[in-house]
Amino acid sequence: MADLPTPLTNLKIQYTKIFINNEWHDSVSGKKFPVLNPATEEQICLIEEGDKADVDKAVKAARQAFQIGSPWRTMDASERGRLLYKLADLIERDRLLLATMESLNAGKLFPNAYLMDLGGCIKTLRYCAGWADKIQGRTMPMDGDFFCYTRHEPVGVCGQIIPWNFPLVMLIWKIGPALSCGNTVIVKPAEQTPLTALHVASLIKEAGFPPGVVNIVPGYGPTAGAAISSHMDIDKVAFTGSTEVGKLIKEAAGKSNLKRVTLELGGKSPCIVFADADCENVVEFTYTNIFYHEGDCILGFLVLFVFKVYLFERIRGRGREREREYAVGNKFTPKMSTGPQIDKEQYNKILDLIESGKKEGAKLECGGGPWGNKGYFIQPTVFSNVTDEMRIAKEEIFGPVQQIMKFKSLDDVIKRANNTTYGLSAGIFTKDLDKAVTVSSALQAGTVWVNCYSVVSAQVPFGGFKMSGNGRELGEYGLQQYTEVKTVTVKISQKNS
Ligand code: NAI
Ligand code: MG
Repeated sequence: MADLPTPLTNLKIQYTKIFINNEWHDSVSGKKFPVLNPATEEQICLIEEGDKADVDKAVKAARQAFQIGSPWRTMDASERGRLLYKLADLIERDRLLLATMESLNAGKLFPNAYLMDLGGCIKTLRYCAGWADKIQGRTMPMDGDFFCYTRHEPVGVCGQIIPWNFPLVMLIWKIGPALSCGNTVIVKPAEQTPLTALHVASLIKEAGFPPGVVNIVPGYGPTAGAAISSHMDIDKVAFTGSTEVGKLIKEAAGKSNLKRVTLELGGKSPCIVFADADCENVVEFTYTNIFYHEGDCILGFLVLFVFKVYLFERIRGRGREREREYAVGNKFTPKMSTGPQIDKEQYNKILDLIESGKKEGAKLECGGGPWGNKGYFIQPTVFSNVTDEMRIAKEEIFGPVQQIMKFKSLDDVIKRANNTTYGLSAGIFTKDLDKAVTVSSALQAGTVWVNCYSVVSAQVPFGGFKMSGNGRELGEYGLQQYTEVKTVTVKISQKNS
């Protein structure tokens, strides 16, 4: 693991414009929007506000860069890989700046931003870089006198819409695979957190990607975002965010040009603790995850199902000790456990759900309200005695709130764990191999973790069943979402086996 430096104190925001064709543009409308520091509610800077007209400009640039015969289309695949490696090196060079900026703008604890977010971005880019010249088709022994092969071609111009909880990680999860496969992209960062994406835009230019290959258009969802999902000349849209907006994006794709759609949406992940589980391990993984990252790491939205009462008491006791160790506060101060929520809307939404938990009769074990009198901070909160019909059991909370429920039998817990419209991930804690394998195959979730939780890595596919999304990101499976398979059948005079 990298050593932890101290965050920059003289951070300057250099890039505030729209990035198209490797150049910086003012918005067509002349509008700008404010970006805030969620720990202080103060404005950091103003950013050029992209809308439909700016998206149109970006699409033209991306289409031009994707033309047959263009520098990007004629480039060796290994050279595409080299550019991605170069970008990873530049991000590594600017790691301290990017981590400070991410911490400032997204309310992340600086150590998390530096070690986990930046570390993950650099590794993911290098993983994608290595794939660039290994994306291969096949030859098939088809019937008749023909020679037949497939080509895995880039899809084309890809629109990529990302959220505020992992601004930089989501940017890399989107552009890494897309560029590795030879696509061109238009990225719309979340309106709350455009700063690091714009700095990376400058690095894309410095790395030497041809103009138009990557375009970054900051702006709002219903304007710039909707312009991407309904665009007639965008071939694919990849989205991470709320289920509600995921539905709008699929609808817009259907009503426009049937562009390909991949979605990574919400989750409400069951985490099942059996009587033989290592209690210390359970507390470590589940408590760390629910409170890590201000509770808005998508994987943290777990409902903890524990087997019968005695285990519940043990977990609760240990959990209480952990909660005392948690410190809320300034993200640049060492040893903090959690920072602020991203904005007022999220803050109010989480507090409303906490109130519903109290009203509906869940037992408040700790926390349960706002923290401090400035910034969007919420106390780490734990509810026990949660029952299936409570709002806190059903709705995605996206904040530092833990729900604990009890179960009686294997059948009972499988049924209840699957009784959700989501299917992103699940966890099982047990030493019994048979139970671990049986339950993991019964759970409807894109990822099942056994005796661990929320471990994600560039080599491994990630995505959801049911209303948690469509398609997968990362790993070889993720790359497949950025290629079209073309079958080429050639008549020959005579084939031989
Ligand atoms: P959101 O889904 O509205 O925003 C995510 C991205 O979509 C942003 O870039 C936004 O500008 C864009 N967007 C919004 N409306 C759009 C539209 N009509 N067309 C195209 N793009 C659009 O999420 P929001 O409002 O920030 O958070 C609401 C809830 O969504 C959270 O409380 C949480 O439950 C969930 N969420 C889930 C995330 C995940 O990682 N799966 C990330 C962020 C939020
Ligand atoms: Mg929204």
